[in-house]
Amino acid sequence: MGIADRYAVIGNPIEHSKSPVIHQAFAKQLQQEIEYLRVLAPLDGFVSSVNTLRAVGFKGVNVTVPFKFEAFQMANQLTERARAAGAVNTLMFDGNSISGDNTDGAGLVQDIQHNLGVPIKQKRVLLLGAGGAAEGVLLPILAEQPAQLVIANRSLEKALNMQRKIESEKFGQHTLTSTSTFDSLQGQSFDIVINATSTGLTDTQLPLPGDIFAKDALAYEMLYGRETPFMAFARSHGAGRIADGLGMLIEQAAESFYLWRKVRPQTAPVIEQFQS
Ligand code: ATR
Repeated sequence: MGIADRYAVIGNPIEHSKSPVIHQAFAKQLQQEIEYLRVLAPLDGFVSSVNTLRAVGFKGVNVTVPFKFEAFQMANQLTERARAAGAVNTLMFDGNSISGDNTDGAGLVQDIQHNLGVPIKQKRVLLLGAGGAAEGVLLPILAEQPAQLVIANRSLEKALNMQRKIESEKFGQHTLTSTSTFDSLQGQSFDIVINATSTGLTDTQLPLPGDIFAKDALAYEMLYGRETPFMAFARSHGAGRIADGLGMLIEQAAESFYLWRKVRPQTAPVIEQFQS
């Protein structure tokens, strides 16, 4: 029997990453034999850590905070969604080739549409935040053809930059985006509101108007693990449904697994395993 193909998740910090458990669950389900490790790269040592893994025969890595931009720069082939995100969370190695993709947006879209059963097409979507997390999911959301997509951010300039980039680089014909500060959302309501800011990490409440949730709206928090102030706000301001980012985490992993192994895991049993 040969050695199992090897993969890793690389970040700093990395000890709390759930990726090894998720990928081993997929491998078991599909009777694939893989090894999947956690790798802590020094903050100034991402490229050399990846090259060490390549040299000893690893087939690919998932990349997490704070290295997604360095992974983007390191890749010598990029998918369109990785270019649009300006960030890479999945690398694939084959000889001298380093292919970079970004599965975060696909993971979010799959969780919203398939797991939560909420179609994005023709819906009014509000994306809160204009940092790396927001940029990573913008193109895949637009590709589902919402009726409207508003990016709201504390710094309007950053939201405008995100809008300009997606429009100027012609990632398909996606011109439905507009930008807003939180204040100027007053009087508007949305069917899907996605929190891509990092405010959940600091337990900060965003200054959102109370009426942004349309009837039966979905409030989606991209972080997971506990109720954030955004989720509490949504609960008390009429959102019909509230979800955290656990499903997205597992879906983005499934998409990476598919890129590497060419077989698609079923995510429902793994999501259930993590919820219990
Ligand atoms: P990430 O990779 O998590 O997206 P980031 O690139 O630093 O991290 O982006 C953080 C996002 O959360 C930004 O949209 C940021 O708003 P600004 O662009 O105005 O800085 C947003 N954010 C963080 N703390 C915030 C706060 N207290 N209030 C409002 N927005 C906040």
